[in-house]
Amino acid sequence: MISSAAVAAVDEGAARALAKKNDCFKCHAVDKTKKGPSYKKIATKYKGKEAEGETKMIKNITTGPKVKLEDGSEEDHKIIDTTDQAEIKNLVHWILSL
Ligand code: HEC
Repeated sequence: MISSAAVAAVDEGAARALAKKNDCFKCHAVDKTKKGPSYKKIATKYKGKEAEGETKMIKNITTGPKVKLEDGSEEDHKIIDTTDQAEIKNLVHWILSL
């Protein structure tokens, strides 16, 4: 379970920098739909089930499953270019905090 304290302790600057470096903002914006859902929309989906969200989101960005883009085409999701779990968790917690 992720406590609200853990989410509050998110390093937003580091999270945004990691997302930027990985071109995540090409398809995701904080609050508008691009090729992928906005991060706020993802956070809303996992409100009240943050632990499940954490697991699913980490899987999504580390295993590269097939995803459907807003235009209906499909491609393998981007795999984040880091294996640092703390860094990945910080990014995921930032998204959950939106
Ligand atoms: C080519 C476009 C594209 C790029 C680049 C991309 N994503 Fe996504 N992402 C998507 C789409 C489309 C979905 C929606 C998948 C679905 O709901 O089926 C998605 C879903 C997600 C989800 C939600 C998973 C869930 O459990 O619902 C997260 C978190 C996410 N992306 C994070 C990232 C991060 C972090 C990066 C950068 C490393 C990234 N994405 C790069 C298109 C992209």
